[in-house]
Formats: sequence, C-alpha cells, structure tokens
Amino acid sequence: MEGVLLRRAAELLGSARRVVVLTGAGISAESGVPTFRDGLTGLWARFDPQQLATAEAFHADPDLVWGWYEWRRARVSRAEPNPGHLAIATIQTRVPGSAVITQNVDDLHERAGARPVIHLHGSLFAPRCVAAAAHPAAVEETTDDELAQPDEGRRMPPPRCASCAAPVRPGVVWFGEALPEEALTAAVGAAAACDVLLAVGTSGVVYPAAEIPGIAARSGATVVQVNPQPTPLDQVCAVNLRGTAAQVLPALVTAAWGETDQ
Ligand code: APR
Repeated sequence: MEGVLLRRAAELLGSARRVVVLTGAGISAESGVPTFRDGLTGLWARFDPQQLATAEAFHADPDLVWGWYEWRRARVSRAEPNPGHLAIATIQTRVPGSAVITQNVDDLHERAGARPVIHLHGSLFAPRCVAAAAHPAAVEETTDDELAQPDEGRRMPPPRCASCAAPVRPGVVWFGEALPEEALTAAVGAAAACDVLLAVGTSGVVYPAAEIPGIAARSGATVVQVNPQPTPLDQVCAVNLRGTAAQVLPALVTAAWGETDQ
C-alpha cells in the first residue's frame, strides 16, 4: 500500500473533529468469520440466502434457519476481535463523538471495546419473539455441543417465546426486511455530521447501508476506504487504501497519532 495514501488518510483522521467508521464483513474476516460474497469462502457461495436469510425461509423451515444462525453464533463466539477491531475502538477514544456503524451481526466491535456501535442489520445475540418483538427472548449460552457443530450447522428447533410460546427468531435483518429505524436514523445523522468517514471491509452493494458513504460525501465529508479489492464505493472515496483491515487500520492509527497501546 502506498505510503503517500496512508499518510494522506492519517492527516485527515488526525485532524478530524467527527469520524464515522462504517464496517462490513471484511472487518471480521481476519477473525475467522466468513464474509458473504468473497469467492468460495463467502457464505453466499456455500448457502442460499433465499433458503436461510428471509422470513419466508424461517416460516417454511424454522429448524433449518435457526440451526444455521446458531452455527454462525457459535463460530462468532469462538472468534476474537482482530487488530482492525482494536484500531477502530482506539479511533473512537481518540476522536470523542465518533460513530461506529456496522452491517455485521457479530459482537466483535463491542468485544474490542468500541462503544456505542450502531448495528444496521441486527445481531446474532438479540433473538426475539417472531410474533411480538417486545416479548423478551433469552440468549441461550453456547454449549460445547453446539460449538462442535458440523460445518453446515444442523437443524435445531427454535426456542419458544416465554410470553406467548411463538417461535423465537434470530435478531438479524433478513433480506426483504426493513432496517431498525432507530439505527438507520442514527447512522444517517452521523454520516451527515462527520468530516471523515472510513468505509472498511464492505462490498458496498447492499442498500440502504451502501448509501451511507455517499451521504457523508454529499455533506462535505472526506471518505476513505479500506478494502483489498475495488468496490462501487471507490468513486465517492478521496483515498482508497488497498489492504486488509487488520493490517491497514493499526498502521493508519499509528500514522495519525503515533504509537498507541492498541
Ligand atoms: N479486510 C478488509 N476488507 C476485506 C477483507 C479484509 N481482511 N476481506 C474481505 N474484504 C472485503 C471484500 O473485498 C468485500 O468487498 O470485504 C467485503 C465483504 O463484502 P460482503 O461479503 O459483501 O459483505 P458486506 O458488504 O458486509 O455485505 C453487506 O449483505 O449479505 C448481506 O446482511 C449481509 O450485512 C451483510 C450485507
């Protein structure tokens, strides 16, 4: 990666009053959590999203869908935040008021110390009643048995809601579903008010999340992308850093603020 580009991005970051970091599956790739669209390893190369990530799929076969999300939750529970997650938490402490917006349903940003984190696509750790989102649903502790699941997961009947006995569903946003309003409003507001937006590890093809860098750019912010591959976001970016999150972000933080204990 060109030193000139890294220094440019570091200057922008180091003098920023408000930063937004928007992340996608790429930030968790180096923690062993598969992305969605990367070649053969991406989840959607191995599993049919229509069969697993829609409300229709859950109604048609709740055991298949619940089992698959429990498998993903078990994998995330085994994963650790990587230096990219840690660098983002450092940015949030270095530039108070900065927002971390993620499309990811894992909890690796929080485990790296980032607070608050806006989850646009929900979370694997917030299951809820399928009939009434207001009904509390407990997150079951991940058992060793589940952690030892075969690589494609196995069918598991979803638990029942304690209030109305309806099935409990994963707390993620499925294809065809609206994003949580509060999260989307907060994300759009943060993007419109920031002066630097970092887009990290997202393919920029899923809307409305992919709209956020454009909102920041149109509001006068400078957009910087971290991704080993080009994406449709390239055109709204002033700087494209071609590298992985765990390599580029710590280097960026060090270039912006000198050695930190990240
Ligand atoms: N560091 C940085 N970027 C990476 C890395 C890495 N180590 N590895 C892969 N990438 C990049 C890829 O080049 C790709 O552009 O991360 C991006 C991952 O893209 P997707 O798999 O499409 O993930 P994402 O953009 O988060 O998908 C958006 O789609 O399937 C839905 O709801 C799901 O939130 C998800 C949404």
